[in-house]
Amino acid sequence: SVVLLINNLVVMANATKLCESKPIVTVNGRFPGPTLVAREDDTVTVKVVNHVKYNVSIHWHGVRQLRTGWADGPAYITQCPIQPGGTYVYKFTLTGQRGTLWWHAHVLWLRATVHGAIVILPKLGVPYPFPKPNKEVVVVLGTVYRSFGILMWCLFQFWLKKLINGEWWKSDTEAVINQAQKLGGAPNTYMLRIVNAALNEELFVRIANHKFTVVEVDAVYVKPFTTDTILIAPGQTTNAIITTTQKAGKYLVAVSPFMDAPIAVDNRTTTASLRYSGILTSSNTKLVAPPPQNSTPVANTFMNSLRSLNSATYPAKVPLTINHSLFFTIGLGINPCATCVNGSSVVADINNITFVMPTTALLQAHYFNISGVFTDDFPSKPSMPYNYTGPQPTNLATNKGTKLYRLPYNSTVQLVLQDTGMIAAESHPIHLHGFNFFVVGRGIGNFNPNKDPKSFNLVDPVERNTVGVPTGGWTAIRFKADNPGVWFMHCHLEVHTTWGLKMAFVVDNGEGLNESVIPPPADLPKC
Ligand code: C2O
Repeated sequence: SVVLLINNLVVMANATKLCESKPIVTVNGRFPGPTLVAREDDTVTVKVVNHVKYNVSIHWHGVRQLRTGWADGPAYITQCPIQPGGTYVYKFTLTGQRGTLWWHAHVLWLRATVHGAIVILPKLGVPYPFPKPNKEVVVVLGTVYRSFGILMWCLFQFWLKKLINGEWWKSDTEAVINQAQKLGGAPNTYMLRIVNAALNEELFVRIANHKFTVVEVDAVYVKPFTTDTILIAPGQTTNAIITTTQKAGKYLVAVSPFMDAPIAVDNRTTTASLRYSGILTSSNTKLVAPPPQNSTPVANTFMNSLRSLNSATYPAKVPLTINHSLFFTIGLGINPCATCVNGSSVVADINNITFVMPTTALLQAHYFNISGVFTDDFPSKPSMPYNYTGPQPTNLATNKGTKLYRLPYNSTVQLVLQDTGMIAAESHPIHLHGFNFFVVGRGIGNFNPNKDPKSFNLVDPVERNTVGVPTGGWTAIRFKADNPGVWFMHCHLEVHTTWGLKMAFVVDNGEGLNESVIPPPADLPKC
């Protein structure tokens, strides 16, 4: 079947947040934008009409886009942006995917306000691999900024109103839920479909007196586990079930940043409340303490609990033989800059290469063999190995280039992402377009190629599209290059993406009839 969201207008709307009113860019005048609800294997058609004065493109974060890179959305990677007054129809199929994903603008920092959830229900008649929750609710976490800049940004969370049935959230910050379906009935179960749409914040989520049962991340089922804290990085999605076994009262929800890097950031916690119907007195408000900002152990416990469901119906298809073994360092750097205040600028890099955005979309250049747009010599490892997590090297300069790494169709990849201490070690949520990958290992310090692979989990590693590389540590992922096209990979902290912490893979067409990028649609925007 086909989901049509005709005329999704990108328009300005007035929003009052943090005590100021200002026009923001929205979809259909809504913030967060509308939830796209579809089913597994549906074909989705979205016509985007740009009514603002900025260039716009929309990315369907986590949608595989098998052979349909033209609909993936990152500006200058798979398409030129939709110019003011322009229109583009995104058409893609949700092949074999079900769960929570999200969509967001993928040009400049527009995704701050241009984003919304994607809810992909299982095929009709196919149950969840866990007891069906009584209610489902989309929760989009985000950040807003005061207009005078990044230093004044502040956290907030936005609770979107009801999803499938039932009224839930009464206002932006308060939810009223029924403790039981009826008097004397069993407790209700609510599945929260949580999206982290924040620009630069990994977040902890807690609810007073409640535990979460995590059942899915990044639209892939996991072995259910119970936790009092959820960790969710920008770009990630998490489905978690809560059970309403508490008494009438008000239960605080705390959303707070996780940051264990030795650099100062905003540590404000934002709160909402979950209110059970019934008599409310001041004595039945239950508070919750957020984890300290640098709670590495809490973060580790959460990440180590994530395992693929790996059932007969939902097997974990981890690549066991590897054709391309890659080692990428990620970090920051300082480059000379003639026009900058101090004569230098902070940059970010992968394998010491700061990605330079092209002015022609890379997928076009690849498809039509336009030369001079990119090179395919992205290095498989750093040119000069060093002690990545040791003392800071003296030379902080990076090289620049629009370099891609070329993969034959259906080749298998192991990629070790190594954080470095260049300027400061920091956790980086790395997102790969066009694929899910398996997180086979992670560790602190320098990756040891002789020792660490021995402890990789090749049985039930979590499968996802965005993974946190730990501060001063590494993460190893595996995937199969079964999707021809050009696929962006970048840090989902917007500030790092802007500084150049990004690269792209070019996956060649296969031999078979159904192994090639489809021809571009006629309305593909021009640069
Ligand atoms: Cu959610 Cu390239 O992004």
